[in-house]
Amino acid sequence: MEENNRDYTNGEITVYWRPKECIHATTCFRELRSVFNPGKRPWVNMSAATTEEIIRVVDLCPTNALTYKWNKDIDGAAVKPNQQKTTETIKTDNTDSGNAAELRVMPNGPLVVKGEFKILDEQGNEIKKMRIASFCRCGQSNNMPFCDGMHRKIGWVSR
Ligand code: SF4
Ligand code: FES
Repeated sequence: MEENNRDYTNGEITVYWRPKECIHATTCFRELRSVFNPGKRPWVNMSAATTEEIIRVVDLCPTNALTYKWNKDIDGAAVKPNQQKTTETIKTDNTDSGNAAELRVMPNGPLVVKGEFKILDEQGNEIKKMRIASFCRCGQSNNMPFCDGMHRKIGWVSR
């Protein structure tokens, strides 16, 4: 497991937290501060809301920073948490091809792309295939071309 990754369970589901993927869109704690409260330790309190409510908010996270898995899956074929979320995203996608990439501009934040796509380098060589990625719009990321949350630290405002 990546350092600093965490998981939290209420018995029914397990919520996975991957801080490196967080783009600080603040969606989770604006939507459900009783559960997602960055001012508390641990910052996720799984007993403060129903499973359905937690799932609703995890699904609103624009990246794979927050994902979840039903606990009954844990002992079976190991489904990676991000696979579950990505599958759900694609299922709800009503585009003709069913899995066309969708690009979303986050307010004062990155471009978030979800769906089936690949990233090419400046020579046109494929870097990797991805199903979700956040691209820096503020120009200050230390992990270009991806967002690393720096926009929030510097208080970047889009025009
Ligand atoms: S990216 Fe996800 S985890 Fe990070 S603040 Fe937004 S909703 Fe929360
Ligand atoms: S948009 Fe997030 S670091 Fe630039």
